[in-house]
Amino acid sequence: MVTMTDKLTQDGFSQKGFILAAIGSSVGLGNMWKFPYITGMYGGAAFFLLFIICLVVAGLPILLAELTIGRSGRGDASSSLINISGKSWWGGLGVISVIGAFMIMSFYAVVAGWTFHYTLISFTGELYRNADYTGTFNAFAGSWTPVFWQAGVMLLCIGILYKGVSKGIEAFNNVLIPLLVIILVILMARAVTLPNAGEGIRFFLEPDFSKLTAKSALAALGHAFFSLSLGMGTMITYGAYVDIKQSLPKGSIAIAGGDLAYAVLAGLIIFPIVFSVGLEPTSGAGLVFMALPNAFEAMPLGSLFSGLFFIVLAVAALTSAISILEVPVAYAVKTWRWSRKKAVWWVGLMCFLLGVPSALAVGGPLSSMIGDKSFFDWMDFIASNIIMPIGGMIVTIFTGYAWKRAGEAAGLHGPMYRVWMFLLRYIAPFLILGIFLYSTGLLDFLFD
Ligand code: PHE
Repeated sequence: MVTMTDKLTQDGFSQKGFILAAIGSSVGLGNMWKFPYITGMYGGAAFFLLFIICLVVAGLPILLAELTIGRSGRGDASSSLINISGKSWWGGLGVISVIGAFMIMSFYAVVAGWTFHYTLISFTGELYRNADYTGTFNAFAGSWTPVFWQAGVMLLCIGILYKGVSKGIEAFNNVLIPLLVIILVILMARAVTLPNAGEGIRFFLEPDFSKLTAKSALAALGHAFFSLSLGMGTMITYGAYVDIKQSLPKGSIAIAGGDLAYAVLAGLIIFPIVFSVGLEPTSGAGLVFMALPNAFEAMPLGSLFSGLFFIVLAVAALTSAISILEVPVAYAVKTWRWSRKKAVWWVGLMCFLLGVPSALAVGGPLSSMIGDKSFFDWMDFIASNIIMPIGGMIVTIFTGYAWKRAGEAAGLHGPMYRVWMFLLRYIAPFLILGIFLYSTGLLDFLFD
């Protein structure tokens, strides 16, 4: 018998397509832009090691929980919880993630737009006409141009999602993810053969434990979460399109492993480049846009490598952006019963409009502060630091405490099931509480 929900999810992923799409979601600006600069800020290799530990003890179990909820609930991030539990208030909690995804998408598309602009100006050589890269970035971010690029990114995402899951999301990831690997390997070969590359590799891979602090541990945890796209309903939404025969535990390991592999590649590209020209990897969020061009300028065929580098960023951002936008789109389709076409256009348009103030807030016409943050920073702060941990907590509590048949649904039995439950019940909630208190500043007094 084909039920209503079956009908809505008939358009789903193939086994390989699912893994690639989920890796596409997790590998994004988080790996290529945020990971290198926070690793630089928090001391290099020791931070990286912590990140791996967090990925295993908190990321992996929650990833499996989200995918299992989606596949069993066969709904969006909210209705899946209702379908499993039979209680509508769980759905109300799920809506929090849907709102979070909507907010993240609004400014993620802005940053993705920057990477498209940088790809273009790298290839045309315009970026290298004037050696003041900080000035170049500020002049660009301060103009109206980012809005056009943001609109372009939104249109691309709308176009891909419009085609649906297998012909849109899967088809694009099937091409883009292998393309990413090829370009990354080329860039890595270039980076590790630069003069002084060894110093960058050591910074990234030789841990100095004296540099570790409680603060770096919480930052590593928060990043493991962001990097695996958790707490935003993304993996629940993708889980709903997964075939019942596919092994979710194996899939989760492949996704987390893929995410880690891209982080390693990114580190092996960025740190050797940064050290080769004597730059500091601690320069923060501007590392990629303002510091790296100095290094590309110094190498032969620099604009080519710089163009390839920004293409990687743009592609990685795009495959994540479609997974974020799919969360509210799936919600409109499954909970409000909108047609996919209507949902994609309307949700996309609303998201674009919400993102415009962010696009204009980084030194642009709307950069005035609201309290202590710009509009852009508020969006990021509320979505990444408040909603994401709350969304993660809802998933952990639902799977660890409320859902009695989670093990069966995930395909885990015996000792592996007990390890999973132990992590979900007794480890993950406290770690999430830690991230929440830390990233909202409520723990700051401990670090002073
Ligand atoms: N994981 C993505 C990245 O690393 C970001 C993301 C967050 C995607 C939340 C989906 C949901 O850039």
